[in-house]
Amino acid sequence: MKTLIPAEAIRQRVAELAAQIEAYYQGRPVVIVGVLTGCLVFLADLIRQINLPLRIHLIQASSYRGEATIPSELILCLDSLPDLQGREVLLVDDILDTGQTLSRIVAELRRREAASVRVSVLLRKIGRQSVPLEPDYVGFEIPDEFVVGYGLDYNDEYRQLPFIGVLGSERGQV
Ligand code: IMP
Ligand code: MG
Repeated sequence: MKTLIPAEAIRQRVAELAAQIEAYYQGRPVVIVGVLTGCLVFLADLIRQINLPLRIHLIQASSYRGEATIPSELILCLDSLPDLQGREVLLVDDILDTGQTLSRIVAELRRREAASVRVSVLLRKIGRQSVPLEPDYVGFEIPDEFVVGYGLDYNDEYRQLPFIGVLGSERGQV
């Protein structure tokens, strides 16, 4: 597998994002909402470097992508969220691809009257976005290739890799 982003580069960048987040919130309490399962590793590394009063909540999002002509169906489970009214929320996900997932979740958090909703993603794929959404914190912009590792999966595998890799021929073999 080809390494796209080595572990050390991720470590450095996550520290920079944490510093930006700290500087923005200025000591105010933040509710972190992580999107399972892809956020897992990024969230764990990020929160341990943010020196702010944090509450952590996890939600589940999965999209079942059919053939290209059939719109993918997005299933969201936000049952575990507490009352967010008046809270400052930071949404954390692994990757911004088309933007469908995060824009749906942002709309839902706004509907629950969060005081603010900001978005942090480790990766943003160039040239894929179909929904307008500007993330506030982006780790790396990457080319339109299928990536795995550091929480991202293919067929639920490879999430534990400490680096971001491009899945080549292995993908077809799974
Ligand atoms: P979106 O709704 O199209 O932005 O899709 C976002 C979700 O699709 C992410 O949270 C990932 O779970 C998944 N995804 C998109 N691109 C990749 C990839 O290259 N590797 C692994 N998962 C991906
Ligand atoms: Mg995901």
